[in-house]
Amino acid sequence: MTNIHAIILAAGKGTRMKSTKPKVLQTLANSTLLGHVLKQAKLISQHIHVVYGFGGDQVKQSVDDKTVNWVEQAEQLGTGHAVQQATPHIEDDSMSLILYGDVPLIQHNTLAQLINAGTKSGVALLSVNLENPTGYGRIIRNNDTIQAIVEQKDASAEQLKICEVNTGIMAVQTKLLKKYLAGLNANNAQGELYLTDIIKSGVNDGKTIASVITTNEFEVAGVNDKVQLAELERIYQQQKANQYMEQGLSLKDPSRFDCRGELTFGQDCEIDFNTLIEGVVTLGNNTTIAPNCHIKNAQIGDNVAILANSVIEDAVISTGASIGPFARIRPQAHIGENAKIGNFVEIKKSNIGKGSKVSHLSYVGDSTVGEEVNIGAGVITCNYDGVNKHQTIIGDGAFIGSDSQLIAPVTIGKNATIGAGSTITSNTPEGQLTLSRSKQKSFPNWKRPNKQ
Ligand code: UD1
Ligand code: CA
Repeated sequence: MTNIHAIILAAGKGTRMKSTKPKVLQTLANSTLLGHVLKQAKLISQHIHVVYGFGGDQVKQSVDDKTVNWVEQAEQLGTGHAVQQATPHIEDDSMSLILYGDVPLIQHNTLAQLINAGTKSGVALLSVNLENPTGYGRIIRNNDTIQAIVEQKDASAEQLKICEVNTGIMAVQTKLLKKYLAGLNANNAQGELYLTDIIKSGVNDGKTIASVITTNEFEVAGVNDKVQLAELERIYQQQKANQYMEQGLSLKDPSRFDCRGELTFGQDCEIDFNTLIEGVVTLGNNTTIAPNCHIKNAQIGDNVAILANSVIEDAVISTGASIGPFARIRPQAHIGENAKIGNFVEIKKSNIGKGSKVSHLSYVGDSTVGEEVNIGAGVITCNYDGVNKHQTIIGDGAFIGSDSQLIAPVTIGKNATIGAGSTITSNTPEGQLTLSRSKQKSFPNWKRPNKQ
């Protein structure tokens, strides 16, 4: 088995994006277009060469992979010229796979087929039949045998009627690729070195050009502007939703489900409409997510109910817990088994013990809350003195009355009760009632002032 070298063309500026970023750094499902292509390239090839030009530093910085060979194409003199920059880095006895940094949805199986075809024939191209082929290079066949690719601007009226077009993606034995690239010239309508001209060279060299014809036009679609970017985002999301549903996830409306990352799940999970998943999210069995939730990098156990309009980030939610509606679970929150976090509650960097309840309108930050604790409505852990953050520790079985403020650092003893409306500034003993409340007074002779 010879080595496979992927050559990714990514030198274009992408003027039509109307962006300061190079085109290949536009994002689809939170990952750059180039990132999508690199992912596929890594799955199938041992070596990756990226031909960059416009915005080179930005492009390089976006890739966190030391194994990529960066090849500069200072001037864009055509696709053939771009590939010429990479081939000196590639050994003759290998297969070159040409990919494009702005064609993000290319599928693994298709590339595997193409490489297979290229291994047998020496030169294989990937084509697609389009209802409207305008702008693309046309595949010229004679009794099915590929003769050449003719660019739109160089094609005759007869050739322009051909609907089978070149996707640009090819698998070519490197030795042949180098030979044919050396023979390119710019005698064409655009004055460029066309990669596509290697097909004719192969034919003249006595090779039979192999082809793989894809029926999935989206996997070979390039992205030139924001409209196309959004179209491919939708296609990607549809594919993701289908994949998850095939694996057993229930989605109430797959057209209103977005996953910009990876979701894994157990059996009988159900996600209602308008959910956004980001990063790495795992769900156990029987977990449900109600409408309008945003969940990022979370580990969620079995039988959890995430109720409507909740936001969860970098958190762990244990089995049987209930979150929301309208809850915000922030980084480093760990919600214990069967705990309940109710509406308008914010939890940050805190551990909430098994069976504990924070049901309404609370802020709990930098805290360790024991098991079976009840935190009443409107309780606030005052964790920040304006300079430093401090810890609040609440023992098992404690009951914190509504509208209390716990001024950290502070420890509430086990089974302690805090009377409603208390401001707690020092540690409270186990099992006792503590309250800090001014005495209630009434003024029997008091009169409201009259309006003057
Ligand atoms: C190319 C093909 C055409 C095919 C079409 C598919 C050639 C001559 N034509 O045409 O047959 O139907 O793609 O989309 O190959 N690039 C560089 N350096 C360059 C030129 C291009 O990196 O010097 C990159 C671009 O950034 C782009 C890709 O190569 O990602 C294709 O280049 P583009 O100029 O868009 O080629 P097309 O004219 O569309
Ligand atoms: Ca193009």
